[in-house]
Amino acid sequence: MNVYDSERMMDALGTSGYVETDTPDDADMILLNTCHIREKAAEKIYSELGRYKPFKLKKPDLKIGVAGCVAQAEGEEIIRRQPMVDLVVGPQAYHRLPEMAEAVGAGVKQVDTDFPEEDKFDHLPIRPKAKRAPTAFLTVQEGCDKFCAFCVVPYTRGAEVSRPVDKIIREANELVERGVVEINLLGQNVNAWHGEKDGAEWGLAQLIRELAKIDALKRIRFTTSHPNDMDDDLIAAHGDVEKLMPYLHLPVQSGSDKILKTMNRKHTAAQYLKLVERIRDVRPDIALSGDFIVGFPGESESDFADTMALCEKVRYAQAYSFKYSPRPGTPAADRSHVDEREKSNRLAQLQELLSQHQMDFQQSMIGKTLPVLLEKPGRMAGQMIGKSAYLHAVHMMAAPELAGTVVQARILWSDKNSLAAEIA
Ligand code: 5AD
Ligand code: SF4
Repeated sequence: MNVYDSERMMDALGTSGYVETDTPDDADMILLNTCHIREKAAEKIYSELGRYKPFKLKKPDLKIGVAGCVAQAEGEEIIRRQPMVDLVVGPQAYHRLPEMAEAVGAGVKQVDTDFPEEDKFDHLPIRPKAKRAPTAFLTVQEGCDKFCAFCVVPYTRGAEVSRPVDKIIREANELVERGVVEINLLGQNVNAWHGEKDGAEWGLAQLIRELAKIDALKRIRFTTSHPNDMDDDLIAAHGDVEKLMPYLHLPVQSGSDKILKTMNRKHTAAQYLKLVERIRDVRPDIALSGDFIVGFPGESESDFADTMALCEKVRYAQAYSFKYSPRPGTPAADRSHVDEREKSNRLAQLQELLSQHQMDFQQSMIGKTLPVLLEKPGRMAGQMIGKSAYLHAVHMMAAPELAGTVVQARILWSDKNSLAAEIA
């Protein structure tokens, strides 16, 4: 979502004449977009800001800003810790960037971490008809009402808000007109998206079915989903909407019912496994991906063993796993913590299992012919890279003009994180 938001910030600042530059030497403004989800991500911004100090010393009217969820969570504290920062802007206030930049130009530091009543997207222009990469993000939902005990999102991104159907369809059409053939619908809790059209209630599945009618749009994806919001229609869509890709990111966080309960996830391991079974019933080849937290407060050896057992049952095609990181203001932050060495030890075990499953899934592709959406030139001359329907990175020798088209590719071998192929 930060990639999408950075583009929207560029759109907003474009109206004041700003254009992107490749080097900080050329910049009149440096805006850092930040993530607050784990401590490591949040702390990174202060070292990153340090790197820009010499530029500010050389060019005193250089504007330095911090955007994103660290801006939202820390507000003025950022300027106190790093006084060269001129502007702090939370994710709900990006439409105010042009006026904030102007005020900074007049010498007034700016902090905006409000959650305004109006839809920020109404005020965020889309850049003029520039050609776009073949695949694009489109935010349909923001914020979260789930309040998992470890998570800052409900505080930094605010309450769950769905964007209206018509605006989403308009934005999708605009993207397609500019060359986009794959859209990834985004939301912190994307499958909680709901809307209304012609008096009828819509869920995410209906939105996907409607977007699938756009002829030049070839592929649809969505991320990230909460298991409890996978309704019957969305499960069915994986079986009957051809443009919906066979890949689903469905975080579970833990395989232990005790930990799931104290995490406030509101489902059990068995319910999650049942859901996976129902999805695989309609789409047997679906690639599943997940998120895991190890060392959540109270996690015993046997709770961790339950997580390993769940992974063995699901066999994820791909997964992200993290050590629990206490976040200020969240319910779990004050609970007694698992020893750091134990956390590292469990993370290493889990990651070994997850990479084994990822490797097995990749290797099962060798010899198959898969549709691959070619995106951009690869590292080697004459090479192009793209994505399989299962979201593998795939590289092959191909003409650059094929960017934006789906080719049939025969998979030759599997590297650690990608597949090598030839056009079939
Ligand atoms: N500590 C560790 N991991 C976290 N995540 C969210 N909050 C925390 C935290 N406090 C992980 C979850 C989530 C992903 C985006 O980040 O697994 O699904
Ligand atoms: Fe955070 Fe996701 Fe839980 Fe919402 S559902 S609180 S975004 S982990």
